[in-house]
Amino acid sequence: MPIVLLLGAGSDMAVAIARKFAAQQYHIQLAGRHTAALQAQQQDLQVRYGVTASVHAFDATDFNSHPGFFAGLPAQPDITICIFGYLGEQTKAQDNWPEAAAIINTNYTGAVSILNVVANSYAAKQEGTIIGISSVAGERGRQSNYIYGSAKAGFTAYLSGLRNRLFRSGVHVMSVQPGFVDTRMTQHLTLPPLLTAQPEAVAEAIFKAMKKKKNVLYVKWHWKYIMLIIKLIPEGIFKKLSL
Ligand SMILES: NC(=O)c1ccc[n+]([C@@H]2O[C@H](COP(=O)([O-])OP(=O)(O)OC[C@H]3O[C@@H](n4cnc5c(N)ncnc54)[C@H](OP(=O)(O)O)[C@@H]3O)[C@@H](O)[C@H]2O)c1
Repeated sequence: MPIVLLLGAGSDMAVAIARKFAAQQYHIQLAGRHTAALQAQQQDLQVRYGVTASVHAFDATDFNSHPGFFAGLPAQPDITICIFGYLGEQTKAQDNWPEAAAIINTNYTGAVSILNVVANSYAAKQEGTIIGISSVAGERGRQSNYIYGSAKAGFTAYLSGLRNRLFRSGVHVMSVQPGFVDTRMTQHLTLPPLLTAQPEAVAEAIFKAMKKKKNVLYVKWHWKYIMLIIKLIPEGIFKKLSL
């Protein structure tokens, strides 16, 4: 069975994605910063679904380690899913460079650094699937989260370019725009239920869309139209809104 690599495997979304793929008998490689916590997840996947699961230390912001990390995996994954991310605090990031840098380096630079390595490997063997979890926050900058949003905007553009580059090599690249998801990242926010997905629904949608070789996935369809409207607001009006 195919192998799937989850980058940022401890996240709530990743736990649900790992379970969905394991239930379909994919072998799972769990990569993240807290390997001790990932070991419990590994055991759970093996016992629950009878698949092989392995744990690998990975830090998105340790750029120089990325080529060695990917080359050192016990087997090359058929599918790589880039899930890690950092929301951070917008107001803090406005006058605290380490916070701004953490947001940019996690959501953009780190993703580019590891996916460049994965993409070159998949291009050479002319097969593979890359899935990146970006955000609708990247579709238009808003005062409440434009540093996170701009990093995700960069990531969305990166995935689009990668899809274009790798199309002729037979490598599938899918961008995921989840909208609000009920996870640790958003637990401090009050989210509208109609526009909020559960991690299990995100996992289900990703699996289905991957099978259909979709290019861009909006987990809740509403978001595609909400963002369309938001992007149509003239800048002269948009700049006066409290968003
Ligand atoms: N929740 C939402 O509403 C929402 C909406 C749109 C997009 N997203 C995106 O969806 C993805 C998953 O987020 P989530 O909602 O599941 O949040 P989460 O549970 O907070 O997960 C974030 C994950 O990123 C990992 N991470 C952060 N910095 C890292 C680094 N330097 N190296 C490796 N891993 C790192 C964290 O690992 P540690 O356990 O080591 O901290 C954690 O596992 C993120 O890319 C997020 O931006 C979320």
